[in-house]
Amino acid sequence: MKSPILTYASLGLATCFAMNVGFAGASAHNHSHAVNLAVKDEGGNKSSPLLYGIMFEEMDRSGDGGIHGQLLQNNGFQGKSLGMTAYKSVGDVDISQDHSKPVSKAITSSLQVAVPKNATKFVGFANTGYKGVPVKQAKYKSSFYMKGNYSGTVTLQLVGSHSGTIYADHNLTVKSSDSKFTPFETSFQSKASPDGENEWRLTFDGSKVAGNSLNFGLVQLFPPTFHDRENGLRDDLATVIDKVKPKFLRFPGGNNLEGVKIDSRWKWNTTIGPVVDRPGREADWGYPNTDALGLDEYMQWCEDMGMAPLLGVWAGKSYGGILSGEELEPYVQDTLNELEYLLGDSTTTHYGRLRAKNGRTEPWKLNYVEIGNEDQLTGGCDTYPERFNQFYKAIHDHYPHITIVVSNADPSCLPSQLPKNVILDVHFYLKDDQIVDKFNQWDNQPRNQSVMVGEYGCRNTTQATGVYWSYMRGSCSEAVYMIGLERNSDIVKMAAYAPLLAHREYISWSPTLYGFDSRPDSITPSTSYYVQKMFATNKGDTVLPVSSSTGFGPLYWVATKTDSKYYVKLANYGSVSKKVDVSVPGTEKGKLEMLSGPEYHGNTPMNVKIETITMDVSDANGKYTIHMEPWAVAVLAVS
Ligand SMILES: *[C@@H]1O[C@H](CO)[C@@H](O)[C@H](O)[C@H]1NC(C)=O
Ligand SMILES: *[C@@H]1O[C@H](CO)[C@@H](O)[C@H](O)[C@H]1NC(C)=O
Ligand SMILES: *[C@@H]1O[C@H](CO)[C@@H](O)[C@H](O)[C@H]1NC(C)=O
Ligand SMILES: *[C@@H]1O[C@H](CO)[C@@H](O)[C@H](O)[C@H]1NC(C)=O
Ligand SMILES: *[C@@H]1O[C@H](CO)[C@@H](O)[C@H](O)[C@H]1NC(C)=O
Ligand SMILES: *[C@@H]1O[C@H](CO)[C@@H](O)[C@H](O)[C@H]1NC(C)=O
Ligand SMILES: *[C@@H]1O[C@H](CO)[C@@H](O)[C@H](O)[C@H]1NC(C)=O
Ligand SMILES: *[C@@H]1O[C@H](CO)[C@@H](O)[C@H](O)[C@H]1NC(C)=O
Repeated sequence: MKSPILTYASLGLATCFAMNVGFAGASAHNHSHAVNLAVKDEGGNKSSPLLYGIMFEEMDRSGDGGIHGQLLQNNGFQGKSLGMTAYKSVGDVDISQDHSKPVSKAITSSLQVAVPKNATKFVGFANTGYKGVPVKQAKYKSSFYMKGNYSGTVTLQLVGSHSGTIYADHNLTVKSSDSKFTPFETSFQSKASPDGENEWRLTFDGSKVAGNSLNFGLVQLFPPTFHDRENGLRDDLATVIDKVKPKFLRFPGGNNLEGVKIDSRWKWNTTIGPVVDRPGREADWGYPNTDALGLDEYMQWCEDMGMAPLLGVWAGKSYGGILSGEELEPYVQDTLNELEYLLGDSTTTHYGRLRAKNGRTEPWKLNYVEIGNEDQLTGGCDTYPERFNQFYKAIHDHYPHITIVVSNADPSCLPSQLPKNVILDVHFYLKDDQIVDKFNQWDNQPRNQSVMVGEYGCRNTTQATGVYWSYMRGSCSEAVYMIGLERNSDIVKMAAYAPLLAHREYISWSPTLYGFDSRPDSITPSTSYYVQKMFATNKGDTVLPVSSSTGFGPLYWVATKTDSKYYVKLANYGSVSKKVDVSVPGTEKGKLEMLSGPEYHGNTPMNVKIETITMDVSDANGKYTIHMEPWAVAVLAVS
């Protein structure tokens, strides 16, 4: 990443805010609208400890090819749409998908490598990953299943697809037979590739198979994983989101929960146990899911990042049909089975035992369940009240500790009498000005109804799937809205920007919080990422009253505190810079985090121009002067 100071200089922008923090110095800026803010130390409301979290669903290759560690694409030939995608032959062989040799009940085909009679060299196949395999200086784990008579060396390599450069070269000795698939697993060190155009290769001694064939299945390649988990998350992509310190994870969707048809919905019990027993599915965002990132992996992700899981359960609505009434009852029971799998005792309950067998003895912690997804849409409205009540009753009767989230907040799609203590889920994707118009959305709501803004984000387009990147003005509009959320976080319990991340070669919806591709250092946090991080990592447990010399707009603010630590958040949604004099009695030092850049600039791959700058603030005697550039977002954290 570039130095932010250089970036601003090269853009010809002043960086005077950096020099003026902490003392009311002179400034060349036109601050005709200086604002005074006086933070009071008493009289505030409690703020939800879970306010800032994340939403994840498999889309834009966010999971397979994304945060899930496994790097090879189409590794189990799951779904119906991929064919031979990502496979290449190495040497003079014929490769094809072989339905006559399933690896397991779930992985219903394998790759046949047919070797000609005159073969003498090492031959085999390559997998090119998700438009390339990211190859770093790191230890990789790799595994595959093999069927066919072979005894000898198998060579695994990470190779530049065009350059032919070999970054990793590893031999293992195997013995496989044609009576069954045998699993092999190994690990090896790799050197770093300068680009993303790499592939994983498996070759074997062709002379030993001349005139015959071998079959391979469920090939896997993992870089180091987050917290070193088996079948874990990609360490580099997980670390980026871990830095936000999100407080909850809503999963597995989103549309991807629902299914294009009833039968292709996300099914919890096909996402557990050994990966070779997971069939995957043709999913909602136009490509198959392997479900290697399954229910237990999601729960592990939550545990490793200290997030509260918010589990979405399928509640009868798919895009190809809706079930309700009697027909829905088996699915209600299926959800109870899922909850028993997560929460049941590992010896006395059927599904709790299954969880233990799959490697997790301790029950997971689960306190939030959402019934469905966006049931006010796509034909779900009429039946949702009844469907909601069916699920609510079953879950609440068995697990009264679980807080239920309602999938929408449209009164015409909800039961006339909602149970107490449920949370209503509101989603929106809007243009920047429209988001700012919602600043006071929660100010005058009844204080006895909790809400969650389960998905939101600025989209500067009317096109359904516009492709572009977050930009400073849009991210500032999100900050304005989040200030509104935080001011109302007595009733706004949770909020999540969405979507979370995208592989930039497979975007069907943008922007996302961060993006990446196969190249080194391709991980690109958006300007919105920095807003999320600044807000989530600087939040007090109590919202404080602030007296001000002007009303809200174009400058917006909120103050919170935990014990003697105070946080003042500011967003300048306007084209004129602002001088802001903030008083926070009893404080003297801390830091100022500042995100600022030109209105329509953002971060694009390999080009991070705008990121948070942190400055120390000291000897302030409770008074701070902050210069807010147009569209800037800032957090003052002092004690
Ligand atoms: C300062 O900005 C205000 C508002 O944009 C404008 O009316 C005023 O003329 C400016 N003053 C100077 C000295 O530039
Ligand atoms: C094997 O024979 C085929 C057909 O005659 C020929 O095209 C190919 O180059 C030969 N391969 C090797 C490794 O000799
Ligand atoms: C593989 O080896 C077994 C045991 O030696 C033998 O029975 C079988 O015919 C061999 N298969 C092929 C295709 O050569
Ligand atoms: C792997 O085995 C092949 C065949 O025996 C050999 O040519 C090659 O040098 C070996 N590679 C490594 C890295 O040991
Ligand atoms: C998953 O649960 C459904 C419904 O209870 C059941 O019909 C199906 O056989 C289960 N599948 C697996 C793989 O256990
Ligand atoms: C909230 O309070 C209002 C006014 O007392 C009442 O009409 C409404 O039913 C309450 N809502 C909930 C969810 O308790
Ligand atoms: C926002 O939308 C407008 C109108 O479509 C377009 O001209 C502009 O380039 C967009 N800006 C960004 C940052 O995407
Ligand atoms: C606390 O909540 C009340 C009721 O909505 C509201 O009037 C007041 O402004 C809130 N106080 C703060 C500091 O946000």
